Amino acid sequence: MKVWGEPRREPAEGGEDAASSSEARLAAVAAEAGLELAPETARGHDHGDGGPHAHRHPHEHAAPGDPPFLGIVGAGAVGTALGVALSRAGWPITAVASRDAARRERFSRLVGGTRAFAEATAILDEVELIILAVPDDALATLARSLRLYSGQALVHTSGALGAEVLQPAMAAGTQIGSFHPLVAFADTERAVAALHGATVAVEGDDQLVALLAEMAEVIGATAVRLAPGSKSAYHAAAVLAAGGFDALLDAIAELGRVAGLDEASSLAIYGPLIEQTLGNARALGIGAALTGPITRGDVGTLQAHLATLEAHAPGVLALYRAAAEREIDLAAARGTLTPDAVRRLRDTLAMRS
Ligand SMILES: NC(=O)c1ccc[n+]([C@@H]2O[C@H](COP(=O)([O-])OP(=O)(O)OC[C@H]3O[C@@H](n4cnc5c(N)ncnc54)[C@H](OP(=O)(O)O)[C@@H]3O)[C@@H](O)[C@H]2O)c1
Repeated sequence: MKVWGEPRREPAEGGEDAASSSEARLAAVAAEAGLELAPETARGHDHGDGGPHAHRHPHEHAAPGDPPFLGIVGAGAVGTALGVALSRAGWPITAVASRDAARRERFSRLVGGTRAFAEATAILDEVELIILAVPDDALATLARSLRLYSGQALVHTSGALGAEVLQPAMAAGTQIGSFHPLVAFADTERAVAALHGATVAVEGDDQLVALLAEMAEVIGATAVRLAPGSKSAYHAAAVLAAGGFDALLDAIAELGRVAGLDEASSLAIYGPLIEQTLGNARALGIGAALTGPITRGDVGTLQAHLATLEAHAPGVLALYRAAAEREIDLAAARGTLTPDAVRRLRDTLAMRS
């Protein structure tokens, strides 16, 4: 995956000091993004941008140099953690929309200074930049129910879908994009901490991407722009790294139970082995980090494992076999197995399937 890199921002005029000033950067970025942060653009005026879909908009406008007024739709795992992280970084979360009263209340308590609505459409009157943090399957329908006002931008947080799913919400003078943090949002505080140092894939036109890069930066993350057409593969890798890895942990814990270990004990015992493997892969490369019976062509051990799994943990068999296939590929590629050993290992897997 080649065409990714940090979106570039032009420094503000006035040298290094001015360029590093957060106010100057935000003013420059907001201006570039076409977001209307000027105070004279008072609530309730008509942009008169002449576009076929231009219409009046009452939404708020931030002062020059200030971050845009933000609204979040969806007070779930991602919406809440982003709300907390951005508000702590000084970006105002002006409004939140969640259909669930308990989630609205929790969001308001954690974020503060936020107006909470049940309807996503209600926050359009309040903000300049809207983040849709709702399930992927809900995005298209939600976008069709929204109509942006000129000067507003709409982004979603999905890693699987492109920004184009938001197209139905567009009107003249509006922008769409996406902001996908590569973080496992299992718990709000842990996710807020994990955003520091995380990667955020951003999408949109150049100006909006510059603003989204700024938004990533203030929460301690690094924005990257993916090569066109690569988002699905990038996201599939992320799903393997997070959910896929958790499924692997579950299989490890199931085998641990057969050996008399509870889940905590399995994590305590196998956790350091996982960390060693990750460390080896980082230091030596993935191929060189491979250890175990397959690297030695040890068919007898493979047969014994398959027999044990069939008898005591049949639910783990498919995952073990798929991993073994991949391990044989890796071992063969690094030249540590003879062609005959590769054939015998593959035959063993096929015989017991
Ligand atoms: N979880 C992760 O680790 C992770 C990481 C990166 C990106 N993402 C992406 O972030 C997005 C949100 O994921 P999440 O994990 O935060 O999901 P979540 O915890 O299930 O929260 C989703 C929120 O959207 C609201 N919602 C659900 N269906 C809706 C609909 N039809 N219309 C409007 N709102 C609806 C929910 O209900 P209420 O309106 O009732 O509150 C909830 O507040 C997804 O696109 C996901 O792919 C997730």
